[in-house]
Amino acid sequence: MKSLHKPVLLNEVLEYLNPRAGQNFIDCTLGGGGHTMAILERIIPNGKILAIDLDKEIINKSKVESQKSKVSDNLILVNDNFANLEKIIAEHNFGSVDGIIVDFGFSSDQIENSERGFSFLRDGPLDMRYDKSQKSIKSKIKNII
Ligand SMILES: C[S@@+](CC[C@H](N)C(=O)[O-])C[C@H]1O[C@@H](n2cnc3c(N)ncnc32)[C@H](O)[C@@H]1O
Repeated sequence: MKSLHKPVLLNEVLEYLNPRAGQNFIDCTLGGGGHTMAILERIIPNGKILAIDLDKEIINKSKVESQKSKVSDNLILVNDNFANLEKIIAEHNFGSVDGIIVDFGFSSDQIENSERGFSFLRDGPLDMRYDKSQKSIKSKIKNII
């Protein structure tokens, strides 16, 4: 997947999870897809990965990209909060799970886009929502200095 984000500790994550052909994994924080894609490469042709992100833009972009790839049948993309993991697993009938990764925080794609309000370097609206369907903080704070 095209992304500015380079996943940290990728080798360590792969060493620890040790994904093998036919296994199933959950990535609770898809982001730029670095961890997901590296796991996918190791679990195809029969393994599956359920990849979740609260950011709808990330999920929509990944859906478009994955449809062009050979691994679309192995990748389930879900726009939701990983706090709802139990519900997500049930909804997608995602049976036995061999490992779960959660890479907390924000991705380089989010921080580099000044309109998202995560940037330390560029001016932009104080937004900082992963999920843009949530109410903006601006509606709660009257005076932002
Ligand atoms: C550090 S990035 C993940 C990078 C990813 N591991 C990669 O290889 O590119 C963290 C991601 O978690 C997502 N996120 C943050 N809080 C979340 C939550 N509660 N539920 C689901 N996704 C969340 C963000 O939108 C962001 O895309």
